[in-house]
Amino acid sequence: MKIAISGKGGVGKTTIASALIKSFAETHQTVYAIDGDPDACLAAALGIPPEESAKIKPVVEMGDKIKSISGGGAFYTLNPTLDDRSLEEFAYRHRNIRFMRMGDVKKGGSQCYCRENTFLQALVSTLLLDKDEVVIMDMGAGIEHLSRGTARGVDLMLVVVEPSMNSVNTAMNVKRMAADLGIGRIRVVGNKVRSEREREFIEKSFQPGEVLGYISFSSDVWENSMEPDSACACMELLEGMREVREKILGEAGGS
Ligand SMILES: Nc1ncnc2c1ncn2[C@@H]1O[C@H](COP(=O)(O)OP(=O)(O)OP(=O)(O)O)[C@@H](O)[C@H]1O
Ligand SMILES: [Mg+2]
Repeated sequence: MKIAISGKGGVGKTTIASALIKSFAETHQTVYAIDGDPDACLAAALGIPPEESAKIKPVVEMGDKIKSISGGGAFYTLNPTLDDRSLEEFAYRHRNIRFMRMGDVKKGGSQCYCRENTFLQALVSTLLLDKDEVVIMDMGAGIEHLSRGTARGVDLMLVVVEPSMNSVNTAMNVKRMAADLGIGRIRVVGNKVRSEREREFIEKSFQPGEVLGYISFSSDVWENSMEPDSACACMELLEGMREVREKILGEAGGS
């Protein structure tokens, strides 16, 4: 199963993504964790040491490798095939999590990154997954990143919202774009909820059944972001995301 996480800036996408990755790592053999945000910080949230994550090269900067796989000339294959060995080169192993960083596809102004985009798309869709594997992508903020090919092949778009009209509006745009991109299932996680009124606000903003769970505002999580290593062993957050994991699996028929 491939899950992409999206939502307005600062709502808690990386926090939610890292907790979901950790919760799937408890039940699944391999979790591919993909940082699709150019301002990458998922590695730190997963507890990958900074000196290690500094060495993880973004996929978009692996130009030569991409060329050798997708064809070097002006024409490139639209369906480059990646074997397991190639995958190893792009993925950093952290326990049973395989971490990949996309990098900034648009960096460098007007230069065309079609080849890289095609490659990223192939990378995500090549991860032909066993029942026991899952891909979780932390997308950048807003809807801009959704136009990327990387959103294709995604089974579930999880939109994170906080109790604010702005974040609900962004979620509506994300939902629309995700549906246009053919993503079958779009669900919501309410985050930073501090009261029953805030929970109800989120609940009423969406269709019945659309919100898979509510994560309370946690001062542990909040204060943890002052630490250089932002990996948070906040049990409440993990527990909340285990419930979300079970709902995701239940809806997908247990796969
Ligand atoms: N449930 C929560 N309780 C308290 N603080 C939270 C919670 N979830 C996230 N935060 C805090 O909110 C801030 C933003 O979280 P995070 O970086 O996960 O958001 P993001 O959506 O990934 O942001 P960006 O759009 O910049 O990528 C962080 O300081 C984080 O610690
Ligand atoms: Mg983030």
